[in-house]
Amino acid sequence: MQFFTVEPDHIKAILATEFTSFEKGPTFRSQMKSLLGVGVFNADGDMWKFHRSMARPFFSKDRIGHFDIFDRHAQDALRQMRTRMKSGYAVDWQDLVSRFTLDSATEFLFGRDVHSLSAGLPYPPESELARLQTTTPEADEFASAFLWAQTASAKRGRYQGLWALQEFWTDKVQSRKAAIDKFINPILLDAIQKKNENEKGQGDDGKVSEEDTLLSQLLKVTDDYNIIHDETLNILLAGRDTTACTLTFAIYRLAEHPDILKRLREEILDVVGPTRRPSYDDVRNMKFLRAVINETLRLYPPVPVNVRCAVKDTVLTSKTPGETPLFVPAGMRCIYSVFVMHRRKDLWGPDALKFDPDRFLDERVQKYLTPNPFIFLPFNAGPRICLGQQFAYNEMSFMLVRLLQQVSAIEFCPEVAPASTIPPGYTDSPGSDGTDRVWMASHLTMYARGGLWVKMTEAQAEE
Ligand code: HEM
Repeated sequence: MQFFTVEPDHIKAILATEFTSFEKGPTFRSQMKSLLGVGVFNADGDMWKFHRSMARPFFSKDRIGHFDIFDRHAQDALRQMRTRMKSGYAVDWQDLVSRFTLDSATEFLFGRDVHSLSAGLPYPPESELARLQTTTPEADEFASAFLWAQTASAKRGRYQGLWALQEFWTDKVQSRKAAIDKFINPILLDAIQKKNENEKGQGDDGKVSEEDTLLSQLLKVTDDYNIIHDETLNILLAGRDTTACTLTFAIYRLAEHPDILKRLREEILDVVGPTRRPSYDDVRNMKFLRAVINETLRLYPPVPVNVRCAVKDTVLTSKTPGETPLFVPAGMRCIYSVFVMHRRKDLWGPDALKFDPDRFLDERVQKYLTPNPFIFLPFNAGPRICLGQQFAYNEMSFMLVRLLQQVSAIEFCPEVAPASTIPPGYTDSPGSDGTDRVWMASHLTMYARGGLWVKMTEAQAEE
């Protein structure tokens, strides 16, 4: 039994006001167990509380150290992109930012990155060079195994409680888990061994210091290998593709709206200038930048659909006229889509499908959002709200600032993507009002099917 909702009041009850009546549930947990074990993302009840309390301290400070990590990997990514642009080829921005966020996240979590950027950038699929291109398998091994494992885990959702029958002979996720563990296991074992040798952390009060990685922070509170393994992997999953998704669709929309790109660039040059590294305060002070990110999160929420399971009988009500109260019996699967909710004209106004960052700055805030804050839920809400929200805003802002310091125009090149990228009738669908020219797809998180191929103009070249 399942039901589907896009009602803000229902979602508010599921996530916040009736929090104890809903959980991820045994089906979701079993579907995700091969990949995520029992970490924070995949636990309920006391186990979830334990994991959340262990990870939370690490996110409670806006650590300056993140910016060093972002800067190194952003500069590496943008340097590679500029070199490729000079040769006249379009770049798959989605691929580039996925490597940027993977290298940043692994360094932030483990203190060591997977060097996915060192594999080099792919050429457009139909180009001669794409056929000749050889990638570095080791550098891509982790990324492709991680993608495969996520996709296979998400597919299990289609079969609900019967998913295990589909994988009666082989666990499809487990087969790729080895490539993921090949990277993680030596780092964890090394860190645990060093801790044991040095007796580091003894008498430690568990406080997080500026230099701590999530791994070193976890080692201060537990020696349990499985807990540390699952926790770091869960946070990698939660934090990596979500930020890559937002950066992908932000650039797509900036390419489609040169006026918005120009205004954003003016703010960046005004606050940070053309070369300086943005600081934490710079990022906080850029109101238009924040509005562009929020508008991207509204139209393209990285977690477009989510699920909970009722643990006891509950009645869901809604203020929306015509919505009758809904009885939800214990055991019912409740699917909710913030993607659809974020595009509803009755909640966001007649221009809901338009990309317009000003809706987060002008009178529309008072009209729509302030009286009904649950209409905007990219990070969820309630006790399980995203732990990495601030980290994500910092990382995404940092990359956009660094990019637009160097680039003054962006051209979307859908003709370069694989031929099958846009299905017939897609752009005329009522859900996009003819404004979406990329094919949105989703495994656990949303992505642009076929990639996001763009060309960019280097700022210095024209100024
Ligand atoms: C644009 C970026 C991001 C978006 C839109 C996002 C969104 C979300 C959403 C919707 C959830 C709730 C999932 C659920 O309960 O079913 C969540 C949970 C979580 N997120 Fe994020 N996230 C982002 C970035 C990050 C980053 C960068 C990190 C960490 C580095 C992170 C860490 C987490 C964790 C640990 C949870 C689990 C919280 C819990 O279950 O108690 N997220 N995120």
